[in-house]
Amino acid sequence: MASFTSTLLFLATVLVGITPAVSQPDDPSGLTCNDWGESIEGSVSIVEGELGWLSCPLFSHPSVYNYTSTQSSGQNLFWYRVPEGQDLEQPIASSSRLARDRERLWLLPAAANDTGQYICMLRNRSSCTKIAMRLKVLRPDEVVRGNDCEPPVTVAASPVIIPLQGGKLVDCPDLQDAAAVGLLKSRATVTWMHIIPNSSIYHIMSQPRCRPPESWTNDREVKGVRLQVHVMMVTYQGLYICTVRYQRGGTMLSYSRSINVTAVNPPSMHKEPTILVPTREKVFTVKQDTEVQLLCKALFPYLDSSQWAMWWMVDGKTLDKVHDHHRFSKTTRKVKDDFGDRTEESVLVIQDFQAEDLKREFNCSVKNERGFETRRVQLVEEDDKEYDVYISYARNSEEEQFVLSTLRSVLENELGYSVCIFDRDSLPGGTITDETLSFVARSRRLLVVVSPGYASHGSQALLELKAGIDGMALGGHLRVILIQYKPVRRQGWVRELRRARVALALVRWQGDKSKELTSRFWKRLRVELPVRRVSGGEEGGKDVALMRLHSQNSTNSQTGLISDTVKHPHKVFNSAG
Ligand SMILES: *[C@@H]1O[C@H](CO)[C@@H](O)[C@H](O)[C@H]1NC(C)=O
Ligand SMILES: *[C@@H]1O[C@H](CO)[C@@H](O)[C@H](O)[C@H]1NC(C)=O
Ligand SMILES: *[C@@H]1O[C@H](CO)[C@@H](O)[C@H](O)[C@H]1NC(C)=O
Ligand SMILES: *[C@@H]1O[C@H](CO)[C@@H](O)[C@H](O)[C@H]1NC(C)=O
Ligand SMILES: *[C@@H]1O[C@H](CO)[C@@H](O)[C@H](O)[C@H]1NC(C)=O
Ligand SMILES: *[C@@H]1O[C@H](CO)[C@@H](O)[C@H](O)[C@H]1NC(C)=O
Ligand SMILES: *[C@@H]1O[C@H](CO)[C@@H](O)[C@H](O)[C@H]1NC(C)=O
Repeated sequence: MASFTSTLLFLATVLVGITPAVSQPDDPSGLTCNDWGESIEGSVSIVEGELGWLSCPLFSHPSVYNYTSTQSSGQNLFWYRVPEGQDLEQPIASSSRLARDRERLWLLPAAANDTGQYICMLRNRSSCTKIAMRLKVLRPDEVVRGNDCEPPVTVAASPVIIPLQGGKLVDCPDLQDAAAVGLLKSRATVTWMHIIPNSSIYHIMSQPRCRPPESWTNDREVKGVRLQVHVMMVTYQGLYICTVRYQRGGTMLSYSRSINVTAVNPPSMHKEPTILVPTREKVFTVKQDTEVQLLCKALFPYLDSSQWAMWWMVDGKTLDKVHDHHRFSKTTRKVKDDFGDRTEESVLVIQDFQAEDLKREFNCSVKNERGFETRRVQLVEEDDKEYDVYISYARNSEEEQFVLSTLRSVLENELGYSVCIFDRDSLPGGTITDETLSFVARSRRLLVVVSPGYASHGSQALLELKAGIDGMALGGHLRVILIQYKPVRRQGWVRELRRARVALALVRWQGDKSKELTSRFWKRLRVELPVRRVSGGEEGGKDVALMRLHSQNSTNSQTGLISDTVKHPHKVFNSAG
């Protein structure tokens, strides 16, 4: 993939990009030359005193220039040098230290004064092409090293991936290139060294970071010139530095390269990507006229191809195909890499969220070679409601005591909900219809305590129930929950309740069994209520709650309490009277 991209880049530069400058070289035949300037492949660094080489960049992509075919078409390759601090191209005279082999110029070894610009030129009698590159010869102490014990390396580490428990035979980079050169008559010897990464939790401070093969266990070894890993372990990760040595005319020539070995999870059956967030149950709360961010998180198990994709769709269309695409943007980032199993996060940002957006289908999709998954993000509109819970019950009934001293008190004091109880009887007459509707509408949940007399005792409870059922029907921002204090025969329910019953949650009070906050009753009820954090935690709050349940039994008198159960009684009274 990487080499394909760089080929494209190169081709783009060669064929479509900048037109090469046409210059008049110092050439007696006076032919014009295509000058590609400095190579996009960057400069070359070699350690002083080490073996090194320059490859003419014209041949980096044989589909553009092929050394063999240029030679057969009568084109010759020439090397020039512009030494550091000068601006004159000088032909490079071949010597025993600077030698040419096909498209390469060898430094046997590199000297400090070799630093400069190098130009290779391909020329026949009628045409000429040239390209330049930089060479920097570094003193060993100028090379950045992780540890003093490491040999200096000027070339970026080659990545090598080995599955845990798996094996691999690893070559020292560029060894084949060097070995193919006739200039180096002797056979190469290669020494290896394992560098324990600074970040490794397995590193023991008293042990050196550079470990020669003599200190390795027998799950890996050096075989000839190669590194053989038999059974890959986490601790075998890190840099391996190989030093290649040649004997040439009584002198030793050498260079070093590094390999970055990474362990990945072994191949297994489960390689399909999975969406971790949103879960099927997760509902995102959104607010109109604000910027909304939707999070998608997915796990992509390690695969050799490392091809994976994560994208958003709105109503089945990719973001760029949506008519109001300017309102959408996304950012994707890797949040975790666990031996090649990557966890990726993609955030879809929606500007100025509108009511119509609630109806749209936002899907996050993931894909790799093995599978595909898509999931819709469920959205609900956040409402700025004043109360968490509105309790509706039959006034002056057996249930009143339960509602006021147990239900209300636990919800408010133990579970931290804001509770609204509206009492008609305490109001100084007049119609309170609008107030009832408005208080029900300002609540997130309507708790209906059903009793034989519910909604027949007076119109207040019935009104609350109707308001609740209407609120449910209109956009679903209010949820109605039924609480049964004592068994009630279904026939005794008002028509509205009988009709709605199927769609509603019913939580049953089971006498003393339900008194503990950890009982089924409170657990079920809390599932139906908006999410609230209880201070002190569930366990710590339990005993206190139990105590309160008991002590509250006798403290409240019916009439004294009712009016102050409305959170803002004054507001109610004022508007009603
Ligand atoms: C270069 O060209 C020669 C002859 O045209 C061909 O045999 C050889 O395979 C080519 N090499 C590459 C690397 O394309
Ligand atoms: C560069 O240095 C090498 C070795 O240090 C020496 O043999 C050579 O003559 C020098 N070349 C120039 C042009 O100074
Ligand atoms: C010189 O090389 C070019 C290709 O770069 C070729 O088109 C041309 O025919 C060659 N000229 C001669 C005289 O061989
Ligand atoms: C690793 O640790 C050594 C000594 O603890 C330190 O000299 C070196 O700079 C560190 N290397 C990196 C890459 O942080
Ligand atoms: C080795 O590769 C890992 C991941 O593949 C990377 O995080 C690390 O930086 C690399 N180390 C070196 C020294 O290149
Ligand atoms: C969106 O995801 C849901 C599953 O959550 C799926 O049923 C639906 O077909 C997906 N929509 C599209 C357009 O892929
Ligand atoms: C609570 O009141 C009921 C009757 O209303 C009574 O039977 C019970 O003993 C009381 N419990 C406590 C702890 O006071």
